[in-house]
Amino acid sequence: MTAEDMQYLTIALPKGKLFYLAKDLFAKVGYSAENLEEKSRKLVITNDELKIKFIIAKTADVPVYVEHGAADIGVIGKDVLMESDKDIYELLDLGFGRCHLMMAVPKDKKRAKLTDYAHTRVATKFPHIAKKFFNSKGMQMEYIKMNGSIELGPIVGLSESIVDIVETGTTLRENNLEEIAFIADASARLIANRASFKLKFNRINKLIQDLDTVLKGDNE
Ligand code: PRP
Repeated sequence: MTAEDMQYLTIALPKGKLFYLAKDLFAKVGYSAENLEEKSRKLVITNDELKIKFIIAKTADVPVYVEHGAADIGVIGKDVLMESDKDIYELLDLGFGRCHLMMAVPKDKKRAKLTDYAHTRVATKFPHIAKKFFNSKGMQMEYIKMNGSIELGPIVGLSESIVDIVETGTTLRENNLEEIAFIADASARLIANRASFKLKFNRINKLIQDLDTVLKGDNE
């Protein structure tokens, strides 16, 4: 680590639904930077006074930056974190972005029981999580990795089911899909690079405590 790297705390924020929630939470503990916007063309936004650098990354890349130390800490959904299976520290549940991972099927083609779907095709953005889940049920499946609009899979005959996240349930309802198995709860997490956590322990630990205080206050 260079002397500059040591001075600054680099924070990876994900684009998308979690961006502004994360930005607002950090602002509450005094971690902010001018022009920190999701759509900024400038991808590293620095606050030299506070010695903070924000990196704005694609969601799935946040754990990659953190694992390799390109960012000291980051904010990421537990779903993406579980799927990425990276060697990082998970420090804090940030409470927002609550959703759950589940398996859903077309309502009108619902089979009697879960194991009736063994050896069928499942469309998902989360093949590792899905595989772990189906393996635990003793089911072999064919996994079709998709990058978005997973609900389309069964509608266009690409798969018999999906494994995806549900937040409000609107997407399932509007596409006549029904949840038939719960897999795991998820929400936004604060993660840290292992070396950074040791080298910048005081700063990161203070940040965790400050965030925790704000989160507890929000829940009162
Ligand atoms: C996620 C997820 C579902 C939807 C669920 O998609 O994949 O499609 O949100 O939310 P709901 O239960 O509130 O309807 P996202 O909007 O992240 O986009 P994507 O489909 O491109 O992954």
